[in-house]
Amino acid sequence: MEKAININRPSSSDGMSRIDGRLKVTGAAKYSAEYAVEGLTYGVLAGSTIAKGTITALDTKAAERAPGVLAVVTYLNAPKVPGFQPDQKGIRAQLKVFNDDKIFYNGQPIALVIADTYERALYGASLVKATYNKEEHQTSLTDNFGKGFPPRGDGLYKRGTEDAWKSAPIKLEQEYIVPTNTHNPMELHAIIARWDADDKITVWDKTQGVKATQRDISQLFKVPLENVQVNSRFVGGAFGSALRTWPHEIVAILGAKAVKKPVKLVLSRADMFTSVGYRPHTWQKIGIGATADGKLTGITHQAYGQTSPYENFTEGAVNVSQSLYACPNVNTKYNLVALNLGTPTWMRGPGEATGSFALESALDELSYALNIDPIEIRIRNYAETDPENGKPFSSKHLKEAYQLGADSIGWSNRKQQPASVKKDGWFVGYGIGCGMFGAYRSGAVIKATLKADGTLHLQSAVSDIGPGTGTAMVLIAAEQLGIPADKISFENGASDLPQAPTQGGSATTASVGSAVYKACADLKTEFQKLTGNNTNDKPDYAQILKQHNLPSVEVTSKSDGGEGRDKYSMNSWSVHFVKVLVNALTGVVKIDKVTSVADCGTIISPKTARSQIVGGAIGGIGMALMEEAIIDHRYGRYINNNYADYHVPVNADIPQIDALFVNKPDPILNPMGSKGMAEIALVGMAAAVANAVYNATGKRVRELPITPDKVIG
Ligand code: MOS
Repeated sequence: MEKAININRPSSSDGMSRIDGRLKVTGAAKYSAEYAVEGLTYGVLAGSTIAKGTITALDTKAAERAPGVLAVVTYLNAPKVPGFQPDQKGIRAQLKVFNDDKIFYNGQPIALVIADTYERALYGASLVKATYNKEEHQTSLTDNFGKGFPPRGDGLYKRGTEDAWKSAPIKLEQEYIVPTNTHNPMELHAIIARWDADDKITVWDKTQGVKATQRDISQLFKVPLENVQVNSRFVGGAFGSALRTWPHEIVAILGAKAVKKPVKLVLSRADMFTSVGYRPHTWQKIGIGATADGKLTGITHQAYGQTSPYENFTEGAVNVSQSLYACPNVNTKYNLVALNLGTPTWMRGPGEATGSFALESALDELSYALNIDPIEIRIRNYAETDPENGKPFSSKHLKEAYQLGADSIGWSNRKQQPASVKKDGWFVGYGIGCGMFGAYRSGAVIKATLKADGTLHLQSAVSDIGPGTGTAMVLIAAEQLGIPADKISFENGASDLPQAPTQGGSATTASVGSAVYKACADLKTEFQKLTGNNTNDKPDYAQILKQHNLPSVEVTSKSDGGEGRDKYSMNSWSVHFVKVLVNALTGVVKIDKVTSVADCGTIISPKTARSQIVGGAIGGIGMALMEEAIIDHRYGRYINNNYADYHVPVNADIPQIDALFVNKPDPILNPMGSKGMAEIALVGMAAAVANAVYNATGKRVRELPITPDKVIG
């Protein structure tokens, strides 16, 4: 019988440490900017200083004459991108850089200065002078609802009666705002681009998907796929910012073509706000109604999310309201507003993180209006099947998660009456917030080589942006083959390795892990052939190879996207419990304790699973209390585009976090019984914090982040 796992302080009994841990902490792990490629030159981007208009003149003479400068690449002289097709969909139409004189956002690259050192390139970039024909720009979401449009169709969803909440005995309607959040991984986005021949390109590039980047480069530059090598061996965090190919990657390749030398381009921290996406600023309104005994009768959820002038970025901001609770009447509306800013992108828990802040706050408000415990109201509206499509869930153990978390945080100490507990000048409060995210799986290939020395080598193209994918893969193989984990290695992060999906959507373990599982089964079959079926379940493979005088046995195994998606609704679930202290005088919120409980199937690697949950919880605390990319709308420019002013949690902000796992296998998604955990680690956390702040103080903050001015204001 599987047992729930509770890890508050990881120890050796919680299983293996991550296989690349030593490489990372000793600095031996090499990130994309760190390769000493021969003949390397350095690129620095110069950005536009207006948010909308056209370039009327571009003076690059001073930059060109500056010491060490090799080239200044602009739309006037850039080599053509042969696969760029402005009328098509996808990356090939999204290359809004060095294409023409149009400016769509402040900070849009207008020149790439390439020099023999980084410092000389940086100085050269400061000398590029542009004059513009400036047009009126729009960067405020809330000022531009009138320009909202549905991304596809009418942007509407409905089941049951529209706006049924309005006729409920107990009801409320409120607005919730999530500001722009930027991913801000520690590692800056970076690429080294080199043309090996007229039709051959190698890049060392920060990407969550080497195969997708390879495809984009091949299509854009009309170079055969096999002639594009994308290396991304280590990625220092991404959270979604490296899920797609961005203009700076294309620009670096253009630059390398122009100077006929490899070019390294590392974005500045300020560029990270404009050039690689962000969680879009989203305004939401929820109307919610229930019977007096707390049964939901209707939810109406509307959202306006921002996008750019040249792409429609959409996410499922309103989807949680369709599926999280058994409510008969639900209607949602999702609109986009195009602003003069770069295109947003997926950021950890994309859509659901935003939507759950609204829904889980609104449900909390309703629980107080009804005077029902916030856990109890969730149990009264527990969805046993997916209310959106009627399908059974492949697995759902959220009720157990509520119980585990309530015990761990000490929920029985919570007082239903807000602002009723004060200790030494600090109000004390408890809150919860739930998360859900689709559990996905796609095809992947693993090459597995079992050698006569008893070691096993696994290979996959997949990127590892930090969760410890290799560690989980090694543990799956160790379990299947009975080989000690320290004899198994995992090689990944290069496009010439076997096919793997982009690391995203919490799907890597399910996808690549299934291929590892299959490769182990295929290896067993090969050994059975060798021994004439004369083996037990976990034979001594090295011994068999020696007996047969074989140096190794090798299999290349493919797993597909799995089955059952037509019959089942597959999701991971979480519930976050937060205890806060709020200073009665200053409104400062201190997180006192967090318990995050995940129902993400069987736990394969307890230690890295804990890290994943803790990292997500910290991201959620940042979203709740600190993170906001602030724009000066006069110029359409970010004003806190650095680590000093864009606050993220540091160690001093983070208390004890307990990571609990229901640890029951999902019988459908994959043979390991696992489900994804990356997104649900964050989804629901912001609401849990906001709900705890309300319980502590009686102050409901509906616009993130929950800064002291909003708490005491
Ligand atoms: Mo994740 S937002 O799919 O990197």
